[in-house]
Amino acid sequence: MNLLDLFKYFLKAKTAKVAIEPQLGFWSDLDNKCRTIKHEGGGSENGGHEAKKNIGRPICVLAPMADVTDCAFRYVINKYGKPDVLWTEFVSADGLVRANPDGMKKLLADLKFDKNLEHPIVAQLFGSNPKYMEEACKIVADLGYDGIDLNMGCPDKSIERQKAGASMMKNPKLAKEIIFAAKRGAPNIPITVKTRVGYNKDELDLWLRNILEASPAVVTIHARTRKEMSKVPADWNYVKRAVEIRNEFQKDLIVADKQHTLIFGNGDVTSVADAYKKAEESGADGVMIGRGIFGNPWLFSALQKPIIRNADGDFDVVQNEPTLREKLKVMVEHTQRFQDELGGIKNFAVMKKHFKAYVNGFDGAKELRAELMETNNAEEVREVVLGFLSKTSV
Ligand SMILES: Cc1cc2nc3c(=O)[nH]c(=O)nc-3n(C[C@H](O)[C@H](O)[C@H](O)COP(=O)(O)O)c2cc1C
Repeated sequence: MNLLDLFKYFLKAKTAKVAIEPQLGFWSDLDNKCRTIKHEGGGSENGGHEAKKNIGRPICVLAPMADVTDCAFRYVINKYGKPDVLWTEFVSADGLVRANPDGMKKLLADLKFDKNLEHPIVAQLFGSNPKYMEEACKIVADLGYDGIDLNMGCPDKSIERQKAGASMMKNPKLAKEIIFAAKRGAPNIPITVKTRVGYNKDELDLWLRNILEASPAVVTIHARTRKEMSKVPADWNYVKRAVEIRNEFQKDLIVADKQHTLIFGNGDVTSVADAYKKAEESGADGVMIGRGIFGNPWLFSALQKPIIRNADGDFDVVQNEPTLREKLKVMVEHTQRFQDELGGIKNFAVMKKHFKAYVNGFDGAKELRAELMETNNAEEVREVVLGFLSKTSV
């Protein structure tokens, strides 16, 4: 090697982006557990269809949803269909550090969780100030959370005005700083990122590599750009490409059998069977489900069922299907929990979104919904539901 080659070699070594091994924490055990779950069926018991692969299943998690996945709804989800990991709604990192006592009460309500029941649970934060993010992560870790997720995809104007959420995609350097700050603040729990594929257009290659340089434990790709909001169908080809980008960027880690960042896909998944199919097609390590849980806290109960395929090769795992009576009883239980845990802190209007989702697709649903929209507390909801049930034979 001559002097010029030597110089070029050192220059390359200095500028090459080297993948740092991420700290997966609880995600590592969960990933191993899910990967080694056996598929059942195939062969003659399964309509003659041979299982194509026997590779376990993806990790299936609940998406963070503001004013939806609060502690009351998570209580119900946890009871009737536990996902592999629960997620809070998003919370402002700046707020956690700087809020006045009233504001703090509201933020801490958003972070309320049942320490005996709700594990593993991840708190989602948004923010663009590394100092506050570090402080906020300390606070969240002390509350007993199993992990922290950083929101880098929310298109809400009030969040973007703070240069947080989807705005992070316009400032990749700051995004990396935020991830490192979160790791400093909560060094003992895994830090993950939830984002989109680009701001106005597909920027996945550069953007994802940038995030991977900070080695988060998981990157969840909501398979749309910020501009697309949720107006176009999610394109899971993006998730497939994200897996390829991760495989290429972290190949040294993967070859050496070291921990590497997990890639989760998100967008338009309607059931656990759909999640298995989309993960198989894209190679995603996990799937995050959001709107599919509306009015359907039984959704993740399918995770506890045998993983079988039907004759067409599709996954045939079904969730528990409650009767209408059971469904309405759970809606009342949900409302009572909301009142007990969040009454006086969150507006009762939050529950009305849930009523719309629980109450549809049966005779009299429209009238029942209209009555529920007039209610103001759990007692009134119970009365309306009992009145409805007394008039029907379900
Ligand atoms: C009402 C609502 C609130 C949401 N709040 C958040 C949030 O706090 N943080 C976040 O990262 N994404 C949030 N999202 C986006 C979802 O987590 C998810 O990315 C999106 O709904 C696509 O997934 P899905 O098709 O499974 O619903 C929200 C979505 C909805 C519908």
